Amino acid sequence: MSVRTYRPRLAPKTVRAFQTRLLDWFKHHGRDLPWRSTRDPYKILVSEIMLQQTQVDRVLDYYGRFLREYPSIQDLAAAGRSAVRESWDGLGYYARARHLHATARRVVKRHAGEFPRTLDQLMDLPGIGRYTAGAVASFAFGESAPILDTNVRRVLTRVFVRRRPSRQAALDRRLWMLAELLIPCGKAWEFNQALMDFGALMCTARNPRCSDCRLGELCAWNQAQRAKSNSTPRRRRA
Ligand code: ADE
Repeated sequence: MSVRTYRPRLAPKTVRAFQTRLLDWFKHHGRDLPWRSTRDPYKILVSEIMLQQTQVDRVLDYYGRFLREYPSIQDLAAAGRSAVRESWDGLGYYARARHLHATARRVVKRHAGEFPRTLDQLMDLPGIGRYTAGAVASFAFGESAPILDTNVRRVLTRVFVRRRPSRQAALDRRLWMLAELLIPCGKAWEFNQALMDFGALMCTARNPRCSDCRLGELCAWNQAQRAKSNSTPRRRRA
């Protein structure tokens, strides 16, 4: 039996155009968020864990306060369980706080307080999956590591996936591969942040802003929508 491996066939010109336009959009429209002014892996991890299943606006209230209470990974590792639970109160999904706390303890104990840099080592920490590992590796260490959250998934699917594979696992493999090969050399931080903001602000789930979008001519979804509207007979005016 032959195993077919998906290799995205993308013209280098298309890849470059996507990268350039996305980064240019981010330069002008990217959000100024507090976790974007740090390269400290601990602070980035705190933001990423808080942002799982929680909107940015809500996290903004908690992020600064949490870091004032636990400014370093050592402070968090030394805290008691109930104190951490209390600091998380109101954010919900408390397993996240437990995992974050356990990760802090593990990094302090086993790695002398220094975050590991590789994806495999990061994914070995409690509560850190492929997405979070990619976020820490690219945002803190500038590694060319892909990220795929709901927003990024939507952007990449719309732009690049013309025919959706019937199996979710096949789509996932394809999207992770795309998310990796699209990262411009040395620009993982900007590119991954840009993808997230683009998904949150432009390529939204409902009412995407296609008419303002500079990726339109590269976008499979946009072209399909246009083809559909061109082939729909117009209603006669009464
Ligand atoms: N959601 C998860 N990580 C994020 C980030 N770094 N910026 C904005 N939204 C996010």
